[in-house]
Amino acid sequence: MTIVLARKWAQSLTKIDSLQAYFDPFLQLAWPMWRADGFRAEVVAVRAELTDAYSLVLKPSKRWPGFKAGQHIEIIVEKNGSRVNRFFSISSSPAYYAKTGLIELSIKAQQKGRVTPWLANYKNHNSFNNFISISAALGSFTLSASAQPQLWIAGGSGITPFRSMLQQLKLTSSKKDVHLLYYVQAEDQVLFQNELLESAKSLGSVTVTILNDQQHGYLSRKHLQSNCEDIQDRQVYICGPKPMIALARSYVRELGVDDSQVYFEYFGAAPIDLPRDFASSSLVTFQRSALMTEVNNEEPKSLLEVAEESGLSPISGCRMGVCHQCVCQKTSGKVLNTLTGVYSDTGSGEIQLCISVACDDVVLEL
Ligand code: FES
Repeated sequence: MTIVLARKWAQSLTKIDSLQAYFDPFLQLAWPMWRADGFRAEVVAVRAELTDAYSLVLKPSKRWPGFKAGQHIEIIVEKNGSRVNRFFSISSSPAYYAKTGLIELSIKAQQKGRVTPWLANYKNHNSFNNFISISAALGSFTLSASAQPQLWIAGGSGITPFRSMLQQLKLTSSKKDVHLLYYVQAEDQVLFQNELLESAKSLGSVTVTILNDQQHGYLSRKHLQSNCEDIQDRQVYICGPKPMIALARSYVRELGVDDSQVYFEYFGAAPIDLPRDFASSSLVTFQRSALMTEVNNEEPKSLLEVAEESGLSPISGCRMGVCHQCVCQKTSGKVLNTLTGVYSDTGSGEIQLCISVACDDVVLEL
């Protein structure tokens, strides 16, 4: 009976029905990177790839269960005493991990990002502590065992899971028939150019086509048709920025590929699709922090993103509505839950910041 009551009390505090979450918030006060289901990984090196992109080379602890080519992980780091988490694809292959015990995350440093430019200098920020916390591998966007030919469409840093898959094909001497179409904004934005072309050459069954927007124009139906004439016979894998995924999905459908043969994955939350009659802007007030910011709903953002862009660091976990760690008290205003499509009322109540969008002026107790 006592255990049941304690569990109910802990549940009401943590908003999550798992034992680990009862203790995580307390342990995170002492060590922000703590997570009961996390694993330690040593940052072995940071390797520059392009002027604004780098690879983090990690050595996960022996307890880490490994991964499939194409999967991603969540990393948790301590930045200025706060816990910060992000999701990244593993850009190296399981075969490479089996050989070396190392994995790589290849990351584009976002110009105004709070984390990615900082991570590029991780070893300087943390000369005494080169460890971060990582999750088990996540996601079903993985190299398929099917013998069916495949078309991989990558946009920008969406090349990372495909680099993992291609490296896996090469290290296992696979004969899989693959055509990789890799879209970049400019010629100097191509990640792993030599490696991709060399792998294709040595495998023989893989074709790599690199297209840059400046020279070839943005992804189009014509590109797909002319670069991959047998597209309707292939399974299609797409990874890249959210608008590019939407565009590629509509083109491949028009070109006769059944939806069941198309695979794609969003990292973190899916794009926010607001109803047409949504307010064009709203005012968000963070009461405790005495901050106010105007949100433009032409480019919809979750209230978690709005808070972070305002310089706040609310507790968050999955950033996709699963873990409930971002639950926050709303004092007033209407929000849309983008996962369920349900609107809140205008009074006070609890909301999940990562999946809530302000419909009108909103006041939060943050
Ligand atoms: S961060 Fe996990 S539900 Fe919001």
